[in-house]
Amino acid sequence: MSAIQNYEDRPWMDPEAEPFIKIQSVSKLFGDFVAVDSVDLEIYKGELFCLLGGSGCGKSTLLRMLAGFEMPSSGSIMIDGANMTDVPPYERPVNMMFQSYALFPHMTVEKNVAYGLKRDGIAADEIGKRVEEMLSMVELTQFRKRKPHQLSGGQQQRVALARSLIKQPKVLLLDEPLGALDKRLREQTQYELMALQDQLGITFVVVTHDQEEAMTLSTRIAVMDLGRFQQIGTPTEIYEFPNSRLVAKFIGNANMFEGRVTENSPDHVTVESHDPECQFYIDHGMSIQKGSKVWIALRPEKINISKEPPANGNANVIKGMVHDIGYLGGTSTYRVQIGDGRIVEITSPNQVRPKDGTPPIDWDQEVYLSWHASSSVVLNK
Ligand SMILES: Nc1ncnc2c1ncn2[C@@H]1O[C@H](COP(=O)(O)OP(=O)(O)O)[C@@H](O)[C@H]1O
Ligand SMILES: [Mg+2]
Repeated sequence: MSAIQNYEDRPWMDPEAEPFIKIQSVSKLFGDFVAVDSVDLEIYKGELFCLLGGSGCGKSTLLRMLAGFEMPSSGSIMIDGANMTDVPPYERPVNMMFQSYALFPHMTVEKNVAYGLKRDGIAADEIGKRVEEMLSMVELTQFRKRKPHQLSGGQQQRVALARSLIKQPKVLLLDEPLGALDKRLREQTQYELMALQDQLGITFVVVTHDQEEAMTLSTRIAVMDLGRFQQIGTPTEIYEFPNSRLVAKFIGNANMFEGRVTENSPDHVTVESHDPECQFYIDHGMSIQKGSKVWIALRPEKINISKEPPANGNANVIKGMVHDIGYLGGTSTYRVQIGDGRIVEITSPNQVRPKDGTPPIDWDQEVYLSWHASSSVVLNK
C-alpha cells in the first residue's frame, strides 16, 4: 500500500477532513448512452486513488471530466474548494498523463519535459533548473539528449510522467499509466510511481483495469461497473469485505456457494447449501433475514486442504477429490472437485519440504476442505 499508512493519515475516516476532490451526482451521457451514471466520490489530498473496472465501464470518461476534457451532463465537480464547471482544462490545478504518453517524437527527452513550461513563458534558467530536478527524480538524466524512439517502454513512461509533473499540478490524473509495459517492468514501475507520489505529496487519480495494480498502488479503490461505483474502499476492505458477488469475483479469486440463512443470532449465522451439501457457520452476527437466499464467497487461500477430516465437526467442511494440482514452488493451487461436480480452488503455501519429493497431497486423492468460521463472506447480491 501507498504513502498513507497509519490511522491518523486516513483522511476518509476523519469526519472533519475536507475532501480535495468532490464529485457530486455526476453523469455523462453520449446521446442516450449513459457512460457515467450519477456517481458521488470524495478524494483526499495525498491519496493515490484508483478507478478500477473492466473495459468500457466509464473510467476514462470520469477522469476526462476531472481534467476538463469532457463536461458532465449533470452534477458538479469541485477541486480544492472551487467549482470546476466553467474552468477550462488548462486552468484547472490538474494535469493528465495519457495512456499513449503522447510524447513529441522529434524532440529530445529534455525538450519534451520542458515543453509545458516553455509554452507558459517561464524564464529559460528556471526551466533548466526544474527540468534538471525532474529528470533526476525520474532517473533519466543520462538519457536527456535521446529521442523517444531511442528509449525503452519504461523510460518513455518516465518521460511522460516527468512531463506531466513538471508544472507541479495539485492532482495528477493517470489513464492506464502502466498499460504499455510488460508485466515485470509494470511491477517495478508501480513501486517507482508510489515512491514518487510519496515524495511529491501530489494527489494521484489512476485509471486501471488491472486489479493487482490497483491493489498494489492505492490508498483506496473505486470498483466501477456500467458507469457506477460498486464499492469504494481500501484494498483490504475491497478484498476481505466485498459487498457483492461482482466485486468478490472481480478482485482476486473467490469460490462462490449459494445457500439459505438457517439461523441468525447476534453472535453467529448459519447458512445451508444443498448443491453441494454444506453447512456454513459464520462466527459473527449480521443484518440478514432468516430464510433469505445468500451467496458465500470463500477465497482460495482461506481454505485448508487435508487428507484427514478436520476435528471441528460438521460445519465449514466439504469433501472432494483432487482434480488438478498447480505446483508453483512457493505455493500450490489445488483444484478440487466437490459433490455437485464443481471445482473449488485452494491455494496453499508449501511450508514443509516433502522428504522424497512426493507431494503431501496427490492427484485423485480424497480430501477435506475446511475453513475458519470467520473466513466466509456472506453476500446478498
Ligand atoms: N466520445 C464518446 N462518444 C460516444 N461514446 C463514448 C465516447 N467516449 C466514451 N464512450 C463510451 O462510453 C463508455 C465508457 O467509455 P470509457 O470511459 O472510455 O471506458 P473505460 O475507460 O472504462 O474503458 C464506452 O461504452 C464508450 O464506448
Ligand atoms: Mg479507458
